Amino acid sequence: MKIVTAMCNESRGIGFKNALPWPKLPGDYKHYRGLVAPKYTGEKTANIKGRLTWLSTDHSESNQPGVINIVITTLPKESLKSSKVHYTSESLSEAHQLALECGIKEDNIWIMGGHGIYKDAIAHPECSHLYLTRIYKEFDSDVTLPAFEHQFQKKRDLTIPDNVQEENGVRYQFEVYERT
Ligand SMILES: NC(=O)c1ccc[n+]([C@@H]2O[C@H](COP(=O)([O-])OP(=O)(O)OC[C@H]3O[C@@H](n4cnc5c(N)ncnc54)[C@H](OP(=O)(O)O)[C@@H]3O)[C@@H](O)[C@H]2O)c1
Repeated sequence: MKIVTAMCNESRGIGFKNALPWPKLPGDYKHYRGLVAPKYTGEKTANIKGRLTWLSTDHSESNQPGVINIVITTLPKESLKSSKVHYTSESLSEAHQLALECGIKEDNIWIMGGHGIYKDAIAHPECSHLYLTRIYKEFDSDVTLPAFEHQFQKKRDLTIPDNVQEENGVRYQFEVYERT
């Protein structure tokens, strides 16, 4: 399993009023899409999201061939009223197991938030990497990224640019972490 996330550098804010706190950052979105997309024809990936994250996104990355969408919720699947939700699950561990049973490789299981799902993934020994976009500007937020630094260490991935970028007046940088 791998986490993909973006947070404000100081407040650790990741969400506000069930949306992202910052304006559109096309370069970050492209990076995110590139990370989570199936890499080979016929390969399957799983996108695991909490119910509110699922409801807050446009599902464009979840609507690709080979992507299995698993939403963590205690509500019945029918209540989400979306044919794009393949499975619901009541916990991260159950969602992870379900993805493996679908034949999805560990490296292709993506944890996409929000707060509680990230917290459970940070604590899960099978969660090997965390891909972070660090946003160097503060925005109002009502959801934060739980601490992960005690269990992950930063590493250099030569396939990912690590220079500070700027779009829409927002500076940001991609970082990669590996479980210690
Ligand atoms: N910056 C980023 O990278 C990023 C990524 C993802 C989301 N976000 C933002 O974060 C916000 C949404 O996150 P959120 O934390 O408020 O909500 P969330 O985790 O997406 O959804 C919360 C719901 O998911 C289910 N759930 C969550 N944790 C659970 C757990 N541990 N066990 C069982 N069920 C669980 C529950 O559903 P039921 O109530 O149906 O039982 C809960 O009400 C939005 O603002 C979104 O834009 C930002």
